[in-house]
Amino acid sequence: MKKIYIHAAFFILFILTYFLVKILSPQERLITSLVSTFGFISLILIIIILSLPLFVKYKNTSLTRYLLSERRWIGIYTFIFALIHFSLVFYFFFGLDINKILNNKNRLYLSLGGIALLFLFLMTITSNNYAVRKLGKNWKRLHYLIYPALVLILIHSFNIGLIYMKNFWLKIIVLIMILIIILLKFYKSKKSK
Ligand code: HEM
Repeated sequence: MKKIYIHAAFFILFILTYFLVKILSPQERLITSLVSTFGFISLILIIIILSLPLFVKYKNTSLTRYLLSERRWIGIYTFIFALIHFSLVFYFFFGLDINKILNNKNRLYLSLGGIALLFLFLMTITSNNYAVRKLGKNWKRLHYLIYPALVLILIHSFNIGLIYMKNFWLKIIVLIMILIIILLKFYKSKKSK
């Protein structure tokens, strides 16, 4: 499959997200809904990225193989969705004033989101062949940051989520999905040793 498909898919996802939120959300909650949805999609994309090798193992189709081969781009778009989430928060909730974040009662959970965003940023700028060559073994180590980033995002969103992560059952579903993925990965790596 062609490379352009992955970019087209994310372009469509972006447009759909914006218009669906605009249509479905009450006007007075539009910004919050956009913030929550972009953050939530970013979290779901991280879970998808982690499960792609398992998808290929259990359902080896041209689509799953294609998605795995485009994992780098999916990661870059994950960062872009998280960056949009942060930018909307920074502009609309905090009026571009970093002190308002640092003095907020939720500063701990906001900062954990900030650290996760930094981790995604580091992974994004090293998602190219040049960085793979330059960093050698450290490249893989650096990209293991996806796991601490995921943990930070879970703590961040479980504590301050206003829409999706306010729902107890959605939290449980997300946790169970992550647990299954990690257990399957652990089992797979033990088997291949
Ligand atoms: C990798 C980076 C990040 C990801 C993946 C992420 C993800 C999320 C998720 C999934 C939610 C819960 C949405 C909901 O269920 O309603 C959330 C909420 C929130 N995040 Fe983040 N976040 C990130 C970074 C940040 C940063 C850096 C800030 C600001 C400093 C921030 C501010 C907020 C705020 C204010 C909320 C509560 C409002 C809401 O529910 O949307 N996030 N985030």
